[in-house]
Amino acid sequence: MDTFISRSPADTVAFGVKLGSMARQGWVIGVTGDLGAGKTQLVKGIAESLGIRERIPSPTFALVIEHRGGRWPLFHLDLYRLETMAQILAAGLEDFLFSGEGLTVIEWYERWQGPAPAQLCRVTLRATSETERLIEYHAPCP
Ligand SMILES: Nc1ncnc2c1ncn2[C@@H]1O[C@H](COP(=O)(O)OP(=O)(O)O)[C@@H](O)[C@H]1O
Ligand SMILES: [Mg+2]
Repeated sequence: MDTFISRSPADTVAFGVKLGSMARQGWVIGVTGDLGAGKTQLVKGIAESLGIRERIPSPTFALVIEHRGGRWPLFHLDLYRLETMAQILAAGLEDFLFSGEGLTVIEWYERWQGPAPAQLCRVTLRATSETERLIEYHAPCP
């Protein structure tokens, strides 16, 4: 496990750029952290690294937002509103974990209780102050 200390939203975006630029097609990045921890900020950086220029809204209500037009498609999922595996499966989100196409990033990944994707990179963000975030990441993340 490695750690990175982010001292601003921009730092977290920059960390996302680094992570995204190391990612391979088919990776799933599973992100954990409370509301406001910076998960969506991280995804903004990942999108930037793929050359995606459009805005990156939170998929809290949409559940999944697909961004095309970058190096690969980015599938941005948010499981916050789905409390059980049955709900996640009923929403049809399982394919995004196993399609092998593009890059899938999942906020509230810990809600997924099924088999782990083959290429899973896990990232945890924790607010340690108003502006500081402790970011932990696990192999095969860079
Ligand atoms: N170091 C930091 N990294 C990321 N976000 C930060 C940081 N410091 C303050 N923030 C603020 O925390 C909030 C994070 O929001 P967001 O990325 O939507 O969180 P989440 O998706 O985890 O709910 C933003 O308002 C952002 O400005
Ligand atoms: Mg979010």
